[in-house]
Amino acid sequence: MNDTIEKNKRPLTRREFTGQSLQTLLTIAVVEHLFRGDLFAGPGKDVAVKWLNELNQIGLDLKDQKLQQLAWQKKVAELLKDIELNELLKFIDFAKLESGVKWADNGARSLRPKYPDRPGIPKNLVFGQQIFALKPGRSVVPHGHNNMATAFLVLKGRFQGRHYDRIEDGKTHMIIKPTIDDSFGPGGVSTVSDQKDNVHWFKAQEVPGFIFNIHILGFDPKNKNRTGRVYVDPNGEKISGGLIKARLVDSKEAHQLYG
Ligand SMILES: [Fe+2]
Repeated sequence: MNDTIEKNKRPLTRREFTGQSLQTLLTIAVVEHLFRGDLFAGPGKDVAVKWLNELNQIGLDLKDQKLQQLAWQKKVAELLKDIELNELLKFIDFAKLESGVKWADNGARSLRPKYPDRPGIPKNLVFGQQIFALKPGRSVVPHGHNNMATAFLVLKGRFQGRHYDRIEDGKTHMIIKPTIDDSFGPGGVSTVSDQKDNVHWFKAQEVPGFIFNIHILGFDPKNKNRTGRVYVDPNGEKISGGLIKARLVDSKEAHQLYG
């Protein structure tokens, strides 16, 4: 008798159940719901494995200071635009996903898919990743980033995507400059670094939307700011030179205003 199999057959005890974090349960649910098949085992597996390794390598190069931030932004955008989106999307069962997601009434729901354990797939990816799921009208609220390089790839839906350069930091405000204000559909890509397009805000339009996000943290040892998001209100006072004096807010207020 195999104890492990036998053990797995019985229902979880209350203690075991509550011992699992909600995130773990969510991850399992999402993985089950997300993929129709295995992208890394099908006919396109060589392309998918190569793509994932290249994405990882440029992240390692950024962390090792071999690649500057602007160069990383350019390369990651190329890589995200280069994937055969239609091929990738065939593996994602959006109908199931949409019915399985616990949609957030405010802001975005973050889903964390995992890659399968297969030869050629890096065990420890240098980047974090998530899929944002948003109801129509909901936003990835406006925020800047400290010591974070990130990229968005729209998988489904349509978003109004805005970016701003972070010109100056103050105690209560950040001076920002609008750089991108565009409609992003499937295949649409945008990137963020400390140096360019640092603040972003993506609002889902008429239909539910999904965005694939990767992020690399703490790549700049000279940056003394606490790594993470910095929430701002971009609807601030317009000052000379096309700049905006954007008030610093916390996550709660950002979600009250824009979530
Ligand atoms: Fe962000």
